[in-house]
Amino acid sequence: MNLQILLSGASGAVGRTIGEVIASNSHFLLVGKASRQQFFEPDVEADVIVDFSHPALLARVIQFAVRRRLPLVTGTTGLDPALERKLEEAAEHIPVCHAANFSLGVNLLVRLAGQAASALGEGFDIEILEAHHRRKLDAPSGTARWLGQEVSKARGLNFESSGVNDRSNRRQARHQAEIGYQAIRGGDVAGEHTVFFLGDGERLELTHRSTDRQVFARGALAAASRITGRRAGMVDFADLVLGMH
Ligand SMILES: NC(=O)c1ccc[n+]([C@@H]2O[C@H](COP(=O)([O-])OP(=O)(O)OC[C@H]3O[C@@H](n4cnc5c(N)ncnc54)[C@H](OP(=O)(O)O)[C@@H]3O)[C@@H](O)[C@H]2O)c1
Repeated sequence: MNLQILLSGASGAVGRTIGEVIASNSHFLLVGKASRQQFFEPDVEADVIVDFSHPALLARVIQFAVRRRLPLVTGTTGLDPALERKLEEAAEHIPVCHAANFSLGVNLLVRLAGQAASALGEGFDIEILEAHHRRKLDAPSGTARWLGQEVSKARGLNFESSGVNDRSNRRQARHQAEIGYQAIRGGDVAGEHTVFFLGDGERLELTHRSTDRQVFARGALAAASRITGRRAGMVDFADLVLGMH
């Protein structure tokens, strides 16, 4: 039987790629689209919503998903704390899978970075560098923040207070208990992330490079296939798809 999918952000770069993957796979059926200009029909029959859009659209999509009791897979980044709370509240009623990155390699990178942070300890300073295409709105990327959460947890640091995004106004040496973020924007870069572990006399760099948005599309659709029929709650992408826990 087809999986009937509502696609939010359908006109965007990732949304268009998801549309192509849906069209090329007889297991999936696109039954509705949302973007700035259009929204799902209120009574459309569907199994799941897949969203790669913008926080403003995601806010509407969350309301729709809860009202219709539809599972939600979302990759939208740049959520403010209020929208993150709305997503968590929605998960009291529907299954929600929200990942800053739906690639297999990045999900493994996040784990490896956490392991490296605790294995190497305080003698290694941690900096995170990310590169994305010129159209990207938020910085640092959702994936860079996710990596930061993982390494700060491994180090026993507070994610928000340990993060440093801008050193231009500071005239002080780097503190051991900080994690630095740098963002490069340009061209058509699909997404690159490096976690640097900088020690005395040696350094480790863990890098992931996405070269094709199909990676996110396939990951999100794999999540969509597995989230239907689940109980309400936040569903971890790695748990759902990778079987890594
Ligand atoms: N989790 C992951 O694996 C992953 C991977 C890549 C990207 N992302 C995230 O996915 C999201 C989409 O990325 P993208 O590169 O596809 O972006 P994009 O090309 O800019 O597409 C954005 C989509 O959102 C809609 N939109 C933008 N602003 C809106 C507004 N104010 N109100 C309502 N709708 C609005 C756009 O509709 P219009 O065309 O009508 O403007 C379009 O459909 C971003 O948050 C990005 O960071 C996540």
